[in-house]
Amino acid sequence: MSIKKDSQTEGLSKGLTQYGDTGFSLFLRKAFIKGAGYSDSALDRPVIGIADTGSAYNPCHGNAPQLIQAVERGVMLAGGLPMVFPTMSIHESFTKPNSMFLRNLMSMDTEELLRAQPMDAVVLIGGCDKTVPAQLMGAASAGLPTVQLITGSMLTGSHRGERVGACTDCRRYWGKFRAEEIDQAEVQEVNTQLVASVGTCSVMGTASTMACIAEALGLTVPGGASPPAVTADRIRVAEESGRIAVEIAKKGLSIDKILTEKSFENAMRVLLAIGGSTHTPVLLDLKPSSQFYMEDFHHAAGMATLLRELKPLLHLDALTITGHTLGEWIEASGPGFQQNVVKSRANPIYKEGGIAVLRGNLAPGGAIIKQSAASASLMEHEGRAVVFENLQDMALRIDSEDLDVTANDILILKHIGPKGAAMPEAGYMPIPKKLAKAGCKDIVRISDGRMSGTAFGTIVLHVTPESALGGPLAYVQNGDRIRLSVANRELSLLISDQELARRQAAQPVKVPTAERGYQKLFLERVLQADKGADFDFLMPPPKNIIPKFE
Ligand code: FES
Repeated sequence: MSIKKDSQTEGLSKGLTQYGDTGFSLFLRKAFIKGAGYSDSALDRPVIGIADTGSAYNPCHGNAPQLIQAVERGVMLAGGLPMVFPTMSIHESFTKPNSMFLRNLMSMDTEELLRAQPMDAVVLIGGCDKTVPAQLMGAASAGLPTVQLITGSMLTGSHRGERVGACTDCRRYWGKFRAEEIDQAEVQEVNTQLVASVGTCSVMGTASTMACIAEALGLTVPGGASPPAVTADRIRVAEESGRIAVEIAKKGLSIDKILTEKSFENAMRVLLAIGGSTHTPVLLDLKPSSQFYMEDFHHAAGMATLLRELKPLLHLDALTITGHTLGEWIEASGPGFQQNVVKSRANPIYKEGGIAVLRGNLAPGGAIIKQSAASASLMEHEGRAVVFENLQDMALRIDSEDLDVTANDILILKHIGPKGAAMPEAGYMPIPKKLAKAGCKDIVRISDGRMSGTAFGTIVLHVTPESALGGPLAYVQNGDRIRLSVANRELSLLISDQELARRQAAQPVKVPTAERGYQKLFLERVLQADKGADFDFLMPPPKNIIPKFE
């Protein structure tokens, strides 16, 4: 890198720190980086940032060091300069109150580091549930050429001859323990088998879903979604990600050229086909909707097989980071082979697909149900409300022998929406112990929170507006009748408008606030579930607004 070079748009000369003297800024930057032993010829290459989300608190990213090594190799083989930098890392089970609370912070962290540091392209290493959405939200705003590298799924384990994996089986075994079908010794034994290696959950939960969506968007290298974390295939995907990053840096193939209306429609088709709506059948035979695990999907050639089956429904001219269209990539992946993980459209797992949006006076802004993981017998159901006012209330009473509940009732949990509790995955309420012991396996549950993508049951989520903002959910009382009709996409509280208005007037809402820090920012600026629980100020600005710091 020459100090005289005045191009401030590429390599290490990009985005100079402002001292009021650009020559000095570059001189100083070069002095510091040379302190780390870099040569001039290294510094003259395209700079590829590698966002490292490895953390001792995130076993889903436990292979990050190996992936980084492989990405660096790919970058250098292609003539680029790899620069690894840390960002936040969020694991589902290690963040309080929950990972969703921190997703927007990670997105802002990613966006600002991509803007602030000099790089011509970036490889984002992510995997655990909120990390890939956070990274892509940030990268979309930063606008660089971007490659998403998925950490990959964990291996499955074995418990007393049965194949098990997180986290559908975690919930299933915990349910058995609560129902006293297995004892303390067995639940401890299975605990050591559910997560058999580093990597993300092995079923079609949020992490695997986001991996498939990233590939469908065209933001991973071909085949980047499915290789398990500890396989040679995953390492090769990492090396290829580094190579492609240099290529897209040279071509200036920025993320806005990949994230188009067509690529989003393709991603939505894939979401529906993997367990996720209404016009696209569910084709993928993975837990929690069905039986297999991510490693089986990979053995069935992963996304190539799924995309080939979905071909007539996709925009084949959507561009991917390879520089080729999705259609060209599907062609290049070959003719396919006999396998039983991805079903044909003529013979789907579910004709209707996975996710349905419900509306009605209980959810004027909408609610969702993952119907592919629900009980067919409960999808048309009317029942009596059994109300829990918040998480603490539920924890105190759900296992009480005195709880007035039957399997035909509908459990209501309030105040777990974005402002109520940062949307924890508590929508998967446990079956009340006395019902579980009596053999009840499912009951209709309704809340303004979320559930893990690995969970199953007839569970209505994301009720909008949330109860903490005074949505109708806040005014449901014990004994009210509620009607759920998935066929009619209906969620209704069977009381009159006058009665609802009377209850609202009698009990004005008090929107939660915080005194300081990120929690204050979150509570003041988070949007509702139907807007992705993003921050209002992260929405794109009107076109005529000029950024303050350029
Ligand atoms: Fe990380 Fe499931 S906990 S992907």
